[in-house]
Amino acid sequence: MADTKKTWKSVWITGASSGIGLELARLMADKADHVAISARSADQLEAAAADHAALAAFPLDVTDADAVKDCVDRIAVQAGPIDLAVLGAGTWKLMDAEEFDLAGIRTGVEVNYMGVANAVAALLPGMLSRGSGHIAIVASVAGYRGLPKAVAYGPTKAALINLAETLKAELAPHGIKVSVVNPGFVDTPMTKDNPFPMPGMIPAKEAARALLDGLEKGRYEIVFPTGFVMGMKLLRLLPNALYFWVVRNFILKNANK
Ligand SMILES: NC(=O)c1ccc[n+]([C@@H]2O[C@H](COP(=O)([O-])OP(=O)(O)OC[C@H]3O[C@@H](n4cnc5c(N)ncnc54)[C@H](OP(=O)(O)O)[C@@H]3O)[C@@H](O)[C@H]2O)c1
Repeated sequence: MADTKKTWKSVWITGASSGIGLELARLMADKADHVAISARSADQLEAAAADHAALAAFPLDVTDADAVKDCVDRIAVQAGPIDLAVLGAGTWKLMDAEEFDLAGIRTGVEVNYMGVANAVAALLPGMLSRGSGHIAIVASVAGYRGLPKAVAYGPTKAALINLAETLKAELAPHGIKVSVVNPGFVDTPMTKDNPFPMPGMIPAKEAARALLDGLEKGRYEIVFPTGFVMGMKLLRLLPNALYFWVVRNFILKNANK
């Protein structure tokens, strides 16, 4: 008889109404008994849940800390305590340094950074008391180093990479796993209007497969597509003078095409 035991009992994915999160939710339906999916677009969540019995819609704005806590509590009642949370809700706004706009910057911080912080705050008490759990934070290679046109985005992702490192070190002794997910370019609604070339871009389904594979292997850093991300990692190793020379002569020229 086929083994029907699933890898996880109760999974929560934020940012699951489109793109990487939606594709991950569809794959996760075969890997977990219950997959709670959150984002603001209730209709899109309901449509996904209608196609997969394991999926259940929990509409949510991740910037509302009370609503996030309430959502985590309701998932625990309906599906059992969350043993894996993939925190992927995010927003991207192209912004040049000359257009430094506080409203856009605040939105980036509220959704990308505080959205994850709100979720971690809601998840931790239960995970600490159970001595188990896995939190995966979706950051970006844009958080490795400062990149042109990313003043409202890159710093939020750099903060998430730093947060994940801090949490991993401190939570491991409590039996809680932490992962950071650093995608390169993925073809999703987020990237569809970008006016610059996006080298190595992969479809959302391929990204979700790589993400799921990394989660199943319990990796700390999960990256895709590998070739592009390795290039970005090399940039991170360059001394400042050389890095800024590469930015001026290659990245800025490409970004302004
Ligand atoms: N695509 C890429 O190239 C790329 C590269 C690196 C990192 N990433 C990261 O990967 C993650 C997923 O992005 P994606 O490319 O799949 O883009 P996407 O299709 O635009 O997905 C973003 C998701 O976040 C949700 N979201 C946005 N604001 C929210 C809020 N206030 N509360 C709750 N949910 C909210 C959106 O749903 P609603 O609008 O319905 O709320 C949507 O489900 C993001 O964190 C992104 O920064 C993407």
